[in-house]
Amino acid sequence: MIPYGRHHIDEDDVQAVAEVMRGELITQGPQAAAFERLVADYVGARYAVSVANGTAALHLACLALGLGPGDTVLTTPNTFLASANCALYVGARPAFSDIDPETLNLGLQALRDAFRTQAGIKAVIPVHFAGLPCDMAAISEIARANGASVIEDACHALGAHYADGSRVGNCRYADMCTFSFHPVKLIAAGEGGMVTTNDESLYRKLLLLRNHGMTKVPSDFVEETQGFEQGEPNPWYYEMQALGLNYRMTDIQCALAISQFKKLDRFLSRRLEIARRYDAAFEGMEAIVLPQQRDRERSAHHLYITRMDFRRIGLTRGQMMLALRERGIGSQVHYIPVPYQPYYRQKGLAQGSWPHAEHYYREALTIPLYFGMSDANVATVITGVTDLVSGAQRRALSASG
Ligand SMILES: Cc1ncc(COP(=O)(O)O)c(C=O)c1O
Repeated sequence: MIPYGRHHIDEDDVQAVAEVMRGELITQGPQAAAFERLVADYVGARYAVSVANGTAALHLACLALGLGPGDTVLTTPNTFLASANCALYVGARPAFSDIDPETLNLGLQALRDAFRTQAGIKAVIPVHFAGLPCDMAAISEIARANGASVIEDACHALGAHYADGSRVGNCRYADMCTFSFHPVKLIAAGEGGMVTTNDESLYRKLLLLRNHGMTKVPSDFVEETQGFEQGEPNPWYYEMQALGLNYRMTDIQCALAISQFKKLDRFLSRRLEIARRYDAAFEGMEAIVLPQQRDRERSAHHLYITRMDFRRIGLTRGQMMLALRERGIGSQVHYIPVPYQPYYRQKGLAQGSWPHAEHYYREALTIPLYFGMSDANVATVITGVTDLVSGAQRRALSASG
């Protein structure tokens, strides 16, 4: 079976993890600090804070901004649940603004309209869908003009570039940026996440909140009497200053992430190569539209997205997925618009309309894209998709003719 996405682990990765396992520290230690430095330097941000996963990264980012009841957090409907759930975790209200039909990212006019029509939007969470960076210069300008903070959900976009050529995650356009190292993402850590920022005070909050809201740093102590004895910090003393969580990423995970990180550029270029091969193979097929093609150079290609005209193909999406599966080809739908989820509907959180996201969702089909795909795997996918699309079309034509 060729899945739609998959991690790639080699012997170096196994060795890197084994080394940590034989050492003293298997929870957070020097590997985490080294991984944070690597990511911060790579993306060009001042600070990076490793966390348990991408969801934790978004949750902590919302907490660090002080978002809470009465605040609205605006994101795209075309995303994974976590981009919106993070608002609920802190008691804020998630809201959604429609996508651009070509990039499938947050649409700029829809965003302007949302600020005009909704009160209380305190933060925007743009998502670099499938690895293609949003127009962050414009989004940031709109958000800032309306007094809102920006958290970039870059969980799909490690290694991608903004239109200005700089790397996603440098926080030039955002207060914070979040990443995920879940196995189907660009690099795998088992589970893992990161928040980057250039703001020292947000950085300090993130550190505190990641670890129970607790500090052992004497210069941060607020309790003089317990914290110090004759001017010297008490060796046993620790202090809880906020309600935090245990969102630490372990050294086992960070060792794997560091080893994976060394291969990131290779991973990215193979993904681009496969995306281009698909583009060329499906070009001219009337029942398939390939979004995000224009900016291939800038994308991290977390996913290869197609829009299929299933009516024209003569198969439902479910039938198409099953027929692909029979040929050993996995596929998936990214995403069911978040406000369509029963939880969001039942809680009355699905207010608004998102015609572009809805239209896209009806046609969406993600086909396999990952570093370890062989050329033969790519050819299998191309043949499978082309046969099904053109074969079904032929059948439809002969039935009607
Ligand atoms: C856009 C987006 N945001 C956030 C997340 C959450 O990341 P994690 O699975 O590491 O919690 C994901 C993961 O699938 C994602 O796709």
